[in-house]
Amino acid sequence: MTDQTSNRMWGGRFAAGPDAIMEAINASIGFDRRLAAQDIAGSRAHAAMLAATGIVSDRDAEAIREGLLTVLSEMEAGQFVFSAALEDIHMNVEARLKDVIGEAAGRLHTGRSRNDQVATDFRLWVRDQLDAAEEALVTLLRACLAQAEVGADWVMPGFTHLQVAQPVTWGHHMMAYVEMLGRDLGRVRDARNRMNECPLGAAALAGTSFPIDRDMTASELGFDRPCANSLDAVSDRDFALEFLNVASICAMHLSRLAEELVIWSSAQFRFVALSDRFSTGSSIMPQKRNPDAAELIRAKIGRIFGANVALMTVMKGLPLAYSKDMQEDKEQVFDAADNLLLALAAMDGMVRDMAPDREVLEAAASTGFSTATDLADWLVRVLDLPFREAHHVTGSLVAMAERTGRDLPDLTLDEMQSVHGEITASVYDVLGVHNSVASRVSYGGTAPAQVRAQIARWKEMLE
Ligand code: ARG
Repeated sequence: MTDQTSNRMWGGRFAAGPDAIMEAINASIGFDRRLAAQDIAGSRAHAAMLAATGIVSDRDAEAIREGLLTVLSEMEAGQFVFSAALEDIHMNVEARLKDVIGEAAGRLHTGRSRNDQVATDFRLWVRDQLDAAEEALVTLLRACLAQAEVGADWVMPGFTHLQVAQPVTWGHHMMAYVEMLGRDLGRVRDARNRMNECPLGAAALAGTSFPIDRDMTASELGFDRPCANSLDAVSDRDFALEFLNVASICAMHLSRLAEELVIWSSAQFRFVALSDRFSTGSSIMPQKRNPDAAELIRAKIGRIFGANVALMTVMKGLPLAYSKDMQEDKEQVFDAADNLLLALAAMDGMVRDMAPDREVLEAAASTGFSTATDLADWLVRVLDLPFREAHHVTGSLVAMAERTGRDLPDLTLDEMQSVHGEITASVYDVLGVHNSVASRVSYGGTAPAQVRAQIARWKEMLE
């Protein structure tokens, strides 16, 4: 597509067009066409402002605004012919506008530059992604809450080091993810608040001598205010980086939950059954049901965090203001946003559909001497032993049970008393997993009453 003549948008001082390789490395239209709607919205706001301030005539501004809508509808209809010779979305739109409305199109670029234009377009695009992520997170939070509510008092093993540690409730485990995803939601909202300033009107880097009204374009585009420093406005990409940071942390949380779903749905665990809708079969082993969606969600953090590292690396060391390096911001963010939203939707579907198995969870909860801590606490509370001694006594009892292939509640009172003479039959009350979880009533603990209180708090907050 190399244009042998010089570029029609900036080629005034050039005698020849670019080499094909130059065009290939320079053009961003292959990906920044995703900014078309934002570019046209930004240009329409700019044109309205140029008319309101008397910088261009109402007639020309109206022609520009109408023409831009025509260009947009051509794009939406798939009729627009994108040109690599025109480099990017901004010049593709403007060139087509000239075809549609004639010379008046040339007035649109008064008092602005592609530098503030791309910064504005990209902010608008990232803002849309933050809004979509907010909605997806709320949906997923509701799915986790619904799971927590169903099994608020179902017992399951709590793990540390992936070794059975103490019994917890299913509701408590689900609510741990509600807390994590809830912080992700807070980070999304914070990022949106911080980034919602408008670069348009910063022009190339120094502002403009035209009497533009930056408050007008900012408010027209839904920004809270214009960016206060023109150099910063055109060279800041930390709104995109913050999005990638927030997305990375969120993807990391999704990855942890995905890993648990992979483990829990295995034949060795059987804690949950994943639905057919979110499982796949094997082409060779007819018995297989694979948790592919969970595995792919688990993997998404790789590309999302990769995008974060890539853009941080692009931006580090760039002198103010705009450098073409910054064109490399978009593909990373596009890919990360697409994959974060896909992962959130897939996780929502999996969580909504999955069926935890109450009996299996409860049976697993009592394996691995999971109430040994309850026994030690009983020795402290009832017999007034120092905790360290109670720990030691309990360890001996666990060893005795283990030697004989039994669990703690299966030891006789005689056997217990052979380790510590003052133990009484009331010790059996704390050895059951239901008693164990019911006793953990400290704020934020796993007792069903605590879990239900947290569920109620979150339901209210999400209303
Ligand atoms: N396509 C460019 C980008 O994405 C637009 C800005 C170009 N600015 C310039 N001074 N060449 O960064």
